[in-house]
Amino acid sequence: MSGPTGAFARLRQLVRDLPAPPGLEPIQLQLGEARLGTPPPELAQLGAAEGWTRYPQLGGSAELRAAYSGWLDRRFGAGPALASGRVAIEPTPGSKQALAVAIALAVARVRGGGEPAVVMPTPFYPAYRVGAAAAGARAVHYRLTGEGDAAAVAAAVPAAGGPVAAVVVCNPGSPRGEILPPETLRQVGRIAAAAGAVLVVDECYTDSYTARRPPGYLSVADQAVPGPFLVLHSLSKRSAAPGLRSGFLAGDPASVAGYADYNRECGVSSPQPVCAAAAALWSDDGHVARLRAALGRNWDLADELLAGLPGYRRADAGFFLWLPVPDDEVWARRLWRDHGLLAMPGRYLSAPDQDGVDPGIGHLRIALVHDPDRMREALTRLRHAAQVEEVPA
Ligand SMILES: Cc1ncc(COP(=O)(O)O)c(C=O)c1O
Repeated sequence: MSGPTGAFARLRQLVRDLPAPPGLEPIQLQLGEARLGTPPPELAQLGAAEGWTRYPQLGGSAELRAAYSGWLDRRFGAGPALASGRVAIEPTPGSKQALAVAIALAVARVRGGGEPAVVMPTPFYPAYRVGAAAAGARAVHYRLTGEGDAAAVAAAVPAAGGPVAAVVVCNPGSPRGEILPPETLRQVGRIAAAAGAVLVVDECYTDSYTARRPPGYLSVADQAVPGPFLVLHSLSKRSAAPGLRSGFLAGDPASVAGYADYNRECGVSSPQPVCAAAAALWSDDGHVARLRAALGRNWDLADELLAGLPGYRRADAGFFLWLPVPDDEVWARRLWRDHGLLAMPGRYLSAPDQDGVDPGIGHLRIALVHDPDRMREALTRLRHAAQVEEVPA
């Protein structure tokens, strides 16, 4: 009988027989859930009982849509494209399900030519791969090597050997936090358009940067990239509010209408109190700057404690340290068994690229999402684990 396939289920299975070490408080480093400060006061609006007794307004409130537009304009200069109708928007219940729906709708567009493919990165956010498989498409993986190099994306399209339904790009990347420059975004737009594919851009970490501010696809979409595209944004990382399940997508009007028609009939629309809280959060950049500063302090701590480890690299964005280790599963077991640290083996988030290279094997994904004391404790334990001789579990 085959075992579980989801990354978190595989991790649970991996450590199932191992109790946490006595006397050490377990620390969760496997999940990208920021606990970097007090919850934003905007969430108090969720207590408005009246809104929970009504079906959600399809397409969200006018206030929420105005908040999306305001942020897209402040962040990416997208005001003119929105005002002219070249770019449309639609609320999503977070971005996970919306990514899977966007991929499924792209697969449904394909007519003939054999089994459709979805071109996507490796390592990847699992919804890309599971979403493609559920829609009856093959995943074809590219591995970005040099930052900003779109050649791997270009090569994956012919390697698909059939129709390409969608090209998925994650910027900043997850889990490595690489930031794609504008020219690369233009190139992937051209590659997807030439393949007749929908470009799906996952930008859920766009405000969680510690180096430079990442460009968004909407910053370049106006520059004559003709193909269909959907860009996904979320409050889960930006506002450290994943429980809110609130995000939105933006894209060319036909692609957004395709998603909206599907979601309004078959999907999840945000309840009124969620819309109110989300509108307040998208309208405020102060709490985002505070979260970013806290994230930056965690990376400073990682620099201080781990910079001497072979392969340690501070990411430009995102919550994750992507740490090379001799064997990611052995190390995950050992970190749990001996140090009470739960970290995600990279192989649970990856698959081989076109050259047969699986970049997740031999890496741990370690989330730097805790308050300073807990983070220092976790990284001190991690440094200690890396310094003592490896004892395979
Ligand atoms: C790269 C990436 N995309 C999308 C998501 C989905 O986030 P949500 O559905 O909470 O918006 C996550 C969550 O961890 C993620 O890491």
